[in-house]
Amino acid sequence: MNRFRRLRQNQAIRRLVQETEISPKDLIYPIFVIEGENIKEPVESMPGVYRYSIDKIDEILEEVDKSGISGILLFGVPAHKDSVGSEAYNENGVTQRAIRYIKAKYPNMLVIADICLCEYTSHGHCGLISGNEILNDETLPLLAKAALTNVQAGADMVAPSDMMDGDVAAIRKILDDNGFINTPIMGYSAKYCSKYYSPFRDAAGSAPEFGDRKTYQMDFHNGNEGMREIANDIEMGADIVMVKPALAYLDIIRAAKDMFNVPIAAYNVSGEYSMVKAAAINGWINERDIVMENLTAMKRAGAKIIITYHALDMAKWLKEE
Ligand code: PBG
Ligand code: ZN
Repeated sequence: MNRFRRLRQNQAIRRLVQETEISPKDLIYPIFVIEGENIKEPVESMPGVYRYSIDKIDEILEEVDKSGISGILLFGVPAHKDSVGSEAYNENGVTQRAIRYIKAKYPNMLVIADICLCEYTSHGHCGLISGNEILNDETLPLLAKAALTNVQAGADMVAPSDMMDGDVAAIRKILDDNGFINTPIMGYSAKYCSKYYSPFRDAAGSAPEFGDRKTYQMDFHNGNEGMREIANDIEMGADIVMVKPALAYLDIIRAAKDMFNVPIAAYNVSGEYSMVKAAAINGWINERDIVMENLTAMKRAGAKIIITYHALDMAKWLKEE
């Protein structure tokens, strides 16, 4: 008889044959930086997540610094929004100033700037609009400028999350033209139109004022199309490609891993985080065990990099193991 239980009989043997290893090095922690002073504001729908003004951001950066995780993904919450998202590409915008501050004080911290317009537009869409239409090509130069100003401020990497066609190419070109040939781009390549982003839109105040994001973000019925999106991002110069969300999309992560030879990131998004936190707070699940299982599943599916609001907790738990 085949006895699979031989290799499960005690922890010493189990750890010897363990196939998937997850490390703090794999983790990226998203941070929301808000315009203003003396602000540490809880995000209601994401227990444990806060918006920080620049003067209060050290509190969380010191934790990141000690944690052993690989870096942060920065989102901005501006004081002023307009129809063209001006603050996204203002060289003194909230992320640009935050990045200058962070890189001066923590020069070795990997800072990734999320690039999009939705946090900065009055209408909450990720691109310019004309009536009810979200414009593609007209949006590209603004995304490129947003990327450039954040890189000029010191961002180590940019991650366009807009889902406009051609975004990665436009950003690669402006960075190269300005001498930033070594700044990597992480594409939000297979980004699905998902209700799992709802808590994030609370956090960033970026919910669309009309309609939805279905004309630019992907339809969750489609797997093959995700591979075409990823192939295109790689062709346009993406150094890392992302699948987002993660948990309901492990098949997409696995397919991408099998098909492409570039590092794959999984974004364990806000709604996935909030569901776990809500159940944990109610005592219905064990948070630590569930998070371990969830993040390990993303790694097992083929993600090298995991962007997660659990990153700091996870790093602590991994050290305790
Ligand atoms: C902005 C952006 C979103 C997320 C990352 N960048 C929201 C959206 O597309 O509506 C989602 C992150 C999360 O839910 O944790 N384009
Ligand atoms: Zn957006």
